[in-house]
Amino acid sequence: MTYRIAPSLLSADFARLGEEVKNVIAAGSDWIHFDVMDNHYVPNLTFGPMICSALKSHAKTAAGVAVPIDVHLMVQPVDALAAAFAEAGADLISFHPDASGHVHRSIQAIKSKGCQAGLVFNPAQPLDVLDWVIEDLDLILIMSVNPGFGGQSFIDSALRKIEAVRRRITASGKDIRLEVDGGIKVDNIRRVADAGADTFVAGSAIFGQPDYRAVINAMRAALAA
Ligand code: DX5
Ligand code: ZN
Repeated sequence: MTYRIAPSLLSADFARLGEEVKNVIAAGSDWIHFDVMDNHYVPNLTFGPMICSALKSHAKTAAGVAVPIDVHLMVQPVDALAAAFAEAGADLISFHPDASGHVHRSIQAIKSKGCQAGLVFNPAQPLDVLDWVIEDLDLILIMSVNPGFGGQSFIDSALRKIEAVRRRITASGKDIRLEVDGGIKVDNIRRVADAGADTFVAGSAIFGQPDYRAVINAMRAALAA
């Protein structure tokens, strides 16, 4: 299993975002997780495509290898902003099915722009829509907190949901990443991996510590143990 760590910029220092992206990539990030909130679908407001575009040139390793920008849209409606993020350099774009009037259309619109497409499920959101669209997805993102804020506690029912998604991915026979978002720390990441997740968003756990590399290394050690 290839595990990926995706630090969430939501907990970065917004006055130094470019530097934060560089530093967290130097510390070993696999992806950069970019949380887009519209103060409508969720009760908070963050950043838009202009900021994504400004950060794109910073999203690479010292050797010049591009690090994917993983855009998590917490917006309603979805399609216009998804298109704007595709233009702004997003590599993956995920949205909440309950925020889109036409989920299949939104997925196809993202893919037609050359981006990978993901669906995001809130803690109380059922997985039924996957019956009809799983074969079109590159990513499934399970929320282990209610979206809108960093620093919340992991909701345990997410573990059962991750197990259920893993079974669906296996049954589909497709190469789909299973990402989890919210309350991920060094001391629970292994449990979440055991449930079937392969990609881990972490905001406050990483940006809340002075040494990003130490946290990411500790997460990798927990995953390897
Ligand atoms: C919450 C966001 C998360 C958030 C996670 O709505 O989608 O990506 O940054 O933050 P932590 O890791 O602090 O729970
Ligand atoms: Zn997120």
